[in-house]
Amino acid sequence: MLVSHLEVSAPGKLILCGEHSVVYGKKALASAIDLRTRLTARRSSDRLSTFNMHLLTVDRLIQVTEREFTAIGPVCSLDEGVNKLLAERADREPDKQLEAIRLLLMSTPGLKWAHLSGLCVEVSSELPLAAGLGSSASLSVCLAAMFHLLITPHVQLLTEEERNDINTTAFAIERIFHGQPSGIDNSVACYGNYVVFERGAIIDRFTSSLELPIVVVNSRVAKQTCEQVLKVRRLRERHPVVVDALMNSINEIVTEFVIAIKNAGSEPDELVQRINDLVTLNQGILHSLQVNNLQLANIIGLAAKYGLHGKITGSGGGGCCFIMLDHRPAQCLLDELTSLNFVSFPTKLGCQGVTVENIEF
Ligand code: MEV
Repeated sequence: MLVSHLEVSAPGKLILCGEHSVVYGKKALASAIDLRTRLTARRSSDRLSTFNMHLLTVDRLIQVTEREFTAIGPVCSLDEGVNKLLAERADREPDKQLEAIRLLLMSTPGLKWAHLSGLCVEVSSELPLAAGLGSSASLSVCLAAMFHLLITPHVQLLTEEERNDINTTAFAIERIFHGQPSGIDNSVACYGNYVVFERGAIIDRFTSSLELPIVVVNSRVAKQTCEQVLKVRRLRERHPVVVDALMNSINEIVTEFVIAIKNAGSEPDELVQRINDLVTLNQGILHSLQVNNLQLANIIGLAAKYGLHGKITGSGGGGCCFIMLDHRPAQCLLDELTSLNFVSFPTKLGCQGVTVENIEF
């Protein structure tokens, strides 16, 4: 059975709390956000034509012919495929998007040219690129899901086992994109909702009945993860006892955040107030760790003017922050952010992971 039309989507991610302390073995909490990458595949009636994939956000067209497919074939495991592609790079600037497709061609068991022939794929995304919001992971998950569904076509709902397989494939694609990814971004894009991680491993996953609207704001200052991690390391070298106490406090914030989001026995308004407190407490510690900057402080200060709570997400020093919206109309805040040249993305926390939006045969 050949797929004639397929639509899948996967969310981006946000670190809610625990950045920097997670580097020192503490827990961090991430959430899927409802800014999604969407992949649509349609089969043209011309069965002899090529496989085409258009990445709209970067305007990149990738084409595979039958001859190229036959030369690459499905011949090896994911690990072997990643190692082979990385080894072939030598000193050349890698074409990572093409490598991702080649990886799927060489390591999807049972893949035949008939599955790909005449397929026109378009990928678009609501996520800004390279902003710490997991845009590449959501692309990796969409690609992994498409190849899975091409060889195992079935109706919409994915089983847990299928999600695990898609996540494994997406992690391999992330290795092509990023070298040594932690696996958190693709796990959030795949499973959705909320994920707690520690030392690179998922230690808890959960859903929540709380509806938590937020706005993610891009400071438009390039994020500098390595630099910020190093800055905190140096600070810790100078003040080990104080910085370790701050790291332990962040860990406690993560614990309380998880309890609040799991919605343990309180009124929603009270939970939202607790979450707001925790957001501001965590932001205060990140400021103490010196990873705040002028733009991020401006955005979070502006939110405070409207009585709203915000914090950096990710390494700081640039990149994004988020503001809890508390179900209040936020148009004035959004207008003011736009007038200051910041880019805002209203969305919500804890949404669905990879989703088959439509499939036809
Ligand atoms: C960056 O998104 C999060 C940090 O904790 C660094 C890391 O965990 O690798 C700052």
